[in-house]
Amino acid sequence: MSVKFLSCNGIGLSPLDILASFFQSSPQLPDGYGFTDRQAIFTYQGRYAVHFICRLLNIGPGAEVLAPAYNCGAEIDPFVWAGAKVVFYRVDERGAIDTQDIIRRVTASTKLVYVSHFFGWPQDIEALSRWCRGNKLFLLEDCALCLFSEGPQKTIGRIGDAAIYSFVKSLPVPDGGALVLKNKDAWKGKTPFRPPPFRNILLNSLPLLKKWFMNANPLWQKYDLTRQLLNKSWLKKPMNQDQEIEREMPQSNYFDPQKIEWSISRLSKRILSKTSPQEIIEARRRNYQYLHDALRNVPSIRLLFDALPDGVCPLSFPIYVNDRNCWAQALENHGILVGGWPSYHRGFSWKDFPEARHLKNDLLTLPLHQGLALHQMAYIAECVQSIAKDHGHHYSR
Ligand SMILES: Cc1ncc(COP(=O)(O)O)c(C=O)c1O
Repeated sequence: MSVKFLSCNGIGLSPLDILASFFQSSPQLPDGYGFTDRQAIFTYQGRYAVHFICRLLNIGPGAEVLAPAYNCGAEIDPFVWAGAKVVFYRVDERGAIDTQDIIRRVTASTKLVYVSHFFGWPQDIEALSRWCRGNKLFLLEDCALCLFSEGPQKTIGRIGDAAIYSFVKSLPVPDGGALVLKNKDAWKGKTPFRPPPFRNILLNSLPLLKKWFMNANPLWQKYDLTRQLLNKSWLKKPMNQDQEIEREMPQSNYFDPQKIEWSISRLSKRILSKTSPQEIIEARRRNYQYLHDALRNVPSIRLLFDALPDGVCPLSFPIYVNDRNCWAQALENHGILVGGWPSYHRGFSWKDFPEARHLKNDLLTLPLHQGLALHQMAYIAECVQSIAKDHGHHYSR
């Protein structure tokens, strides 16, 4: 069985894609992104889109920002860098925001409420957006994990005052983020962007090329040496129970002021322009539904979501497990690399947010990306079922 499960964003980037990008000028987004080229401001990464919001709203020392306690860290670091105070609010075990907790935490210094739509599922923010409007608070939607999702009411990325995107989460691109402002006039005259240096494009492309080679050459996967070289998981790092921060997030997740004025690369823009959102949505929904039907009654795991609503383009298949490292290792032995947010921003304490810690420590995501076919979903489901049997205990909390 050849494996093609590396990460959530596709099966990699071929050398031909890279070559072709040199010959295509001004690639345009096709329909289906939820925004057009004219509406979006393309940045090097999603976090720089957040930074521009700080600039637009003069968010700096003295300002407060409300952000979900379940976060990857990269999205809150631009606020930290700007000198603002980031105040966490509660999300429940399913990753749903607690609107009452948000409202309770607002002070006279609060300028912005940050809401993330996790894994493609929409947060319920209708009431919150009305409240923010009434209280002159800026509502920023983080759509980094929900590219191509619009939600059942077609509201994702459209209710807030602005939305940010990060393309590397869903597509095999070396870089790329976007800021979509409801009122783009506010942007006029801001920052001239320049392309990222070639070296950075190349460095970011290497893992994608590696994935492509791995996936295109099943022979490589047969040998321990190449498997070890190509399959690298972060999950196995030990957890230090004595420290407030169990695992610090990698340095590469922090804000880097040198990259503020870099735009998305032409290579990424080209891949975006060649992507068919409709095909991706169909493939991911089909794959999600397969895993959902196959795994919903497995007692050793708990699915994060009960159903796949209309308009959701799932990023991955999130499940809760006991002893995630053990699961990650077992899945990796079958060639299936899992995802998750195991690490913590060094500047914060999570002790008042047990649900967010549970999400960060016990949730893993199975791949279901557009490059995978149903027989590969069947393989993933079989592996999970067999590991569950070996595990022999029920998911509990
Ligand atoms: C939810 C979320 N928002 C924003 C970001 C920032 O995106 P980028 O890495 O493109 O800066 C990330 C990840 O890094 C993320 O997981």
